[in-house]
Amino acid sequence: MNNYVGKPLDRVDGRLKVTGAAKYAAEFDAPKMSHAVLVLSTIAKGAITAMDTSEAEKQPGVIAVITPDNMPKVAAAQRPLFDKAIHYSGQSIAVVVAETLEEATRAADLVHVTYAEEKPAVEMEPVIDQAYQRGQPNKRGDFDAGLAGATHKVDHIYRTPIEHHNPMEPHATVAVWNGDMLTAYDSTQGVSGSAQSLARRFGIGADKVRVIDPFVGGGFGCKGQSWPHSSIAAMAAQVVNRPVKLALTRRQMFTSNGHRPPTRQAVILGAGDDGKLTAHQHYAINHTSRQDEFVEGTSRLATSMYSCANVNQGQKLLRLDVPGPTYARAPGESTGSFSIETAMDELAAELGVDPIELRLRNYAEKDEASNRPYSSKSLKECYRLGAEKFGWSKRNPKVGSMTEGRYLVGYGMASATYPANFWPTSAKAVMTADGKVQVQCGTQDLGTGTYTILGQIAADAVGVKPDMVRVEIGDSWLPNAPGSGGSNSATSAGSAVMLASQALKKQVVELYAATESSPLSGHADEDVEARDGKLTSKKDPTKSVEYAEVMKKLGKTSLEGEATARPGAERGGGPGEHYTMQGFGAQFCEVHVDPDLRMVRVARWVGAFGLGKVLNEKTLVSQLKGGVVWGIGMGLLEETIPDATHGRFVNCSLADYHVPVSADVCSIDIILVPEEDKFVSPIGAKGAGEIGITGAAAAIGNAIYHATGKRVRDLPITLNKIL
Ligand code: MOS
Repeated sequence: MNNYVGKPLDRVDGRLKVTGAAKYAAEFDAPKMSHAVLVLSTIAKGAITAMDTSEAEKQPGVIAVITPDNMPKVAAAQRPLFDKAIHYSGQSIAVVVAETLEEATRAADLVHVTYAEEKPAVEMEPVIDQAYQRGQPNKRGDFDAGLAGATHKVDHIYRTPIEHHNPMEPHATVAVWNGDMLTAYDSTQGVSGSAQSLARRFGIGADKVRVIDPFVGGGFGCKGQSWPHSSIAAMAAQVVNRPVKLALTRRQMFTSNGHRPPTRQAVILGAGDDGKLTAHQHYAINHTSRQDEFVEGTSRLATSMYSCANVNQGQKLLRLDVPGPTYARAPGESTGSFSIETAMDELAAELGVDPIELRLRNYAEKDEASNRPYSSKSLKECYRLGAEKFGWSKRNPKVGSMTEGRYLVGYGMASATYPANFWPTSAKAVMTADGKVQVQCGTQDLGTGTYTILGQIAADAVGVKPDMVRVEIGDSWLPNAPGSGGSNSATSAGSAVMLASQALKKQVVELYAATESSPLSGHADEDVEARDGKLTSKKDPTKSVEYAEVMKKLGKTSLEGEATARPGAERGGGPGEHYTMQGFGAQFCEVHVDPDLRMVRVARWVGAFGLGKVLNEKTLVSQLKGGVVWGIGMGLLEETIPDATHGRFVNCSLADYHVPVSADVCSIDIILVPEEDKFVSPIGAKGAGEIGITGAAAAIGNAIYHATGKRVRDLPITLNKIL
């Protein structure tokens, strides 16, 4: 066995990316390419009464102007592509196809639309009474009795705003029809899901659609489902009978592919003098659109994050005239951890107990929601190692007591958590005559390092050097894999690639052992060690042979191993012991607050995480840092502002929607807490894409409280809130 897994190897695609050689969806071309530009509604509610396309159609280069009046009927029973009824501002209502992007952009501006406008509702508070229950509220024990017995209480409303994902690569689809066969180069978190969605939309077999996306410039959830622009590109390509390229602008991205919905969270904690929780309530409301029901599972955490016998938990939705919200990095946990981890800090202050100590007193040894043990949980170690590295013991608990120069200094911490998802995934590993290995899996690399880790996993399992492995992903015709969401890909695709690679090695060994006068005659797979391209007998280490030599002897041009990794009964799917599988971590931050201007700088960060087996230390740490960076944005900067009068989002650009830039990001220290998990998945790793943002905004708010005595319960914590 090699041991490349875990090593901080550089990204195999790093060079392609910095030289511009990595091809993203919008960069694919085809003969006779045409360019499509969407026309979006400028009102949020009402109906189109007239569309005048005559001026647009006369513009140079214009090939087609497709509107609700002339669009072809497509098979889908889903939402219509274009609708004369307007459900939100920024809804796609027409598309212009032209020879060039510039010509299409110009003509799209000249589609004149007349509306019958109604007054939209885009803010939650004025209509909060219209929120409706979604699913059954959860009750455990007797919350009222638990609260009555509490000597200390925290009871507040917490709020998080609309946020947008803003991946570097905007959404884009290049649609190419060849007869009844559609090839789509589509920026997506799931090539299979995108292909299935297009097949449904056009009423064609899934085998008639191929979605290709070798590189994804970030997704964070907004590329986790198929959005209308992809089908619009494919429909337009049918209409003009040419390939169509449709790339969204940054501005269009604010209404065309979802957002994190705002939340309003009513949290109550009750505790005795010993700090032990006696009651925990979490009722959350998030907005959704008129057409979809998207639940941001904000309150879910209340049922299991801390030990408590008496819990009330529920979710409500509120329909508004807004685009449909969607998954955004750690949906549920990112927003829910803000309120719970802030409330715990408030309870600690109220009790005069150290925030870590309070969490330890309420440590959940098992998952109290399902009454199952955790397959592994290293949260105590995360607290301990994080606190040590951060220097938590130097924290003077007295608010406003710590300074550096003229700045007020605050130390804050919070717990982090995210489920360890693992979904069925298939993969293939092929050895060619030269002893090289090609790995195939229909997963995709969002920029997280999937190519790199899959190569490391195959290298170890087959027993070759990583540069002998070529990884092929990002194509819906490859062995089936789930979308890259819920932090599942490293675990799921990693397990499938490991099993397929093991199957390949076994096959090669067995075939070779059976050849005439084979030096490995009588050897089974487990009797043979494979390392750096060489097979060696464990019984007699003098006997060894190169893979390339074996292939030559076997006279094969290629051999194949195939496998499907499937979650087993331990996830609750059958008889036997069932576990909850979840990653945990602890976030620590130091803020500096200007005593006069109240500007906040995050000065230092330590995050400690227990995530099972480390597949690549460098890409893992990088993902966790990325999560913290968005956490800094969530805590201090990010907010999409709806305009109550016209129902538009008003800050639809990166100039107006503030994301953390390098100057906002401090040194981030990530500690990977050693953790072994025999149950979580064959590869033993838990995903890391989302956990890094969880708890981060609360840690910042808690540090700001420690520095200033101001408790802010609605994000982002902009300076006006702590003046
Ligand atoms: Mo994640 S928000 O499931 O891409």
